[in-house]
Amino acid sequence: MFFPRRQRKGVTHMVYVAILGFGTVGSGVAKVMEKNAATIQQRAKEVIEVKYILDIRDFPDSPYAEKFVKDFSIIENDPSVQVVVETIGGATIAYDFTKRALLAGKSVVTSNKELVAEHGAELLHMARDLNLNYLFEASVGGGIPIIRPISQCLAANELDEVCGILNGTTNYILSSMIKGGLSFDAALEEARAKGYAEANPSADIDGHDACRKICILGSLAFGRHIYPRQVPTEGISGVTLSDAACADAAGYTVKLLGRAKRMPDGRVCAFVGPHLVEKGTPLAGVEDVFNGIMVRGDVIGDVMFYGRGAGQMPTASAVVADVIDAAKHAHARKYLYWEEGGDIVAPPECMHSAWYVRAQCDEQSVENAFGRVCYIKNEDAKTNELAFLTCVLGGAEFERAKNSLSGVRCAMRVL
Ligand code: HSE
Repeated sequence: MFFPRRQRKGVTHMVYVAILGFGTVGSGVAKVMEKNAATIQQRAKEVIEVKYILDIRDFPDSPYAEKFVKDFSIIENDPSVQVVVETIGGATIAYDFTKRALLAGKSVVTSNKELVAEHGAELLHMARDLNLNYLFEASVGGGIPIIRPISQCLAANELDEVCGILNGTTNYILSSMIKGGLSFDAALEEARAKGYAEANPSADIDGHDACRKICILGSLAFGRHIYPRQVPTEGISGVTLSDAACADAAGYTVKLLGRAKRMPDGRVCAFVGPHLVEKGTPLAGVEDVFNGIMVRGDVIGDVMFYGRGAGQMPTASAVVADVIDAAKHAHARKYLYWEEGGDIVAPPECMHSAWYVRAQCDEQSVENAFGRVCYIKNEDAKTNELAFLTCVLGGAEFERAKNSLSGVRCAMRVL
């Protein structure tokens, strides 16, 4: 028997959604909402339908052509729109539209890590005051569930550390260089063609994307906003095939890691940089576009989250799950929240570690600077170039030693 939409069995009413931005992620969200409409309806106990898609471009041949609008106020002023999906990206227009959507009484779901990393505390506060939800599962780790697990499933723990491979593009590039012998540029081109890279790939390569993501995870784990400007960030452009070969010879691989760790004084040490990660450990096995995130809690110990960290469908998977959640809990807030930042961020020097160093120098100079080290044999090394591992050093101690050694070409922490 046919039921008109409002009266379908087990379905209370219709939830209308507006998608802002019809780029890679926004168009993926529209596709998933259509492809899995029946399952989504069953899970949400609501009919969820995309009513508007906002984009400044024209899409006359799109199957959703009649849904496109260019004026945000149409969405803002339509009370039937309950959930706004913000997939514009950036922290300017998206920021304005997110605040306007919340003020108009609509929950907002986003994959926009830049906006959450810059303004998360303010937007979460605003959503809380308005009894709405601001959800961003897709902002970190693409399709990997990580925001909800940290905020809900691990809520019984004091979290000590979050450490992860948070950028699919750089992991793809490093994997292709190390395993496939591909050049940096060829690997980047492939990552772009597959829809993994940011519009400006410098955000990937220089570590800013990973920085935004560790800010979000650190803020969530430690309850205070960590801003990108507070997090020292180094990308992968200084990593050469020679470093990859040295790492391999010593039993390690190279990974770009975002780290946030609670210090004994209660502050959080957060930074992003390339690391040597021991082969055989869970993070070393995270290859290609996959992300891996390790969370350490005092009750549970270490937990690993693993999956596709970039790409249209994995990201859309997380966005649509949040849409279902927002539709189902229209009158209940998720307990996803953190406070404004303050002085909680400690510099990376606070974190002790062993280091990998490659330098053009002689052994005597190395030992004068670092004392005893472990040299790495690399047959392809340039003449007069040495690669070695230091013992565990404090940050300031390492900097002093490094500055006293001339000819340093690369330095990376060992996880
Ligand atoms: N450019 C990002 C990455 C996309 O490569 O991980 C997902 O945030």
